[in-house]
Amino acid sequence: MIGLAGATLVACADKSVPPRQLAGADAARGLKLIQAEGCGACHRIPGVKWPRGAVGGPLDDLSTQALIAGRFPNRPDVMIAWLRDAPAMSPDTAMPASGLTQDQARDVAAYLYSLDAD
Ligand code: HEC
Repeated sequence: MIGLAGATLVACADKSVPPRQLAGADAARGLKLIQAEGCGACHRIPGVKWPRGAVGGPLDDLSTQALIAGRFPNRPDVMIAWLRDAPAMSPDTAMPASGLTQDQARDVAAYLYSLDAD
């Protein structure tokens, strides 16, 4: 898959290191933001017990996906933009704009990229 391109950068490093790193971002804070924002109303997200909505897809496999929402390259900067304001990128999407700041969206992205579908 295309997603392996990023992995070659860390090929010599510990295998537990996720392929998409966000320097200075705090994944634990990201999970708290996900809970506060209510992302679970529309998504199943590991670490979020309730709610577990199904309007959007499950978010357990983003670290290996090549694309975001099936059409945007899965890179941290694109992910952050998507998390902040999906309709700005894709006007007919059912994903609403969030109230996340740039730094908060970085933390959320760090959490989502830390998830391992296994
Ligand atoms: C009202 C329902 C709703 C809420 C609330 C919502 N989303 Fe979404 N989300 C969607 C839908 C629907 C899609 C699919 C978008 C598309 O394909 O256009 C999506 C797509 C995504 C994607 C891309 C998934 C993929 O597999 O490519 C991510 C990442 C994501 N959402 C994260 C979040 C996060 C984080 C939050 C909370 C800040 C959130 N969403 C809140 C409905 C929602």
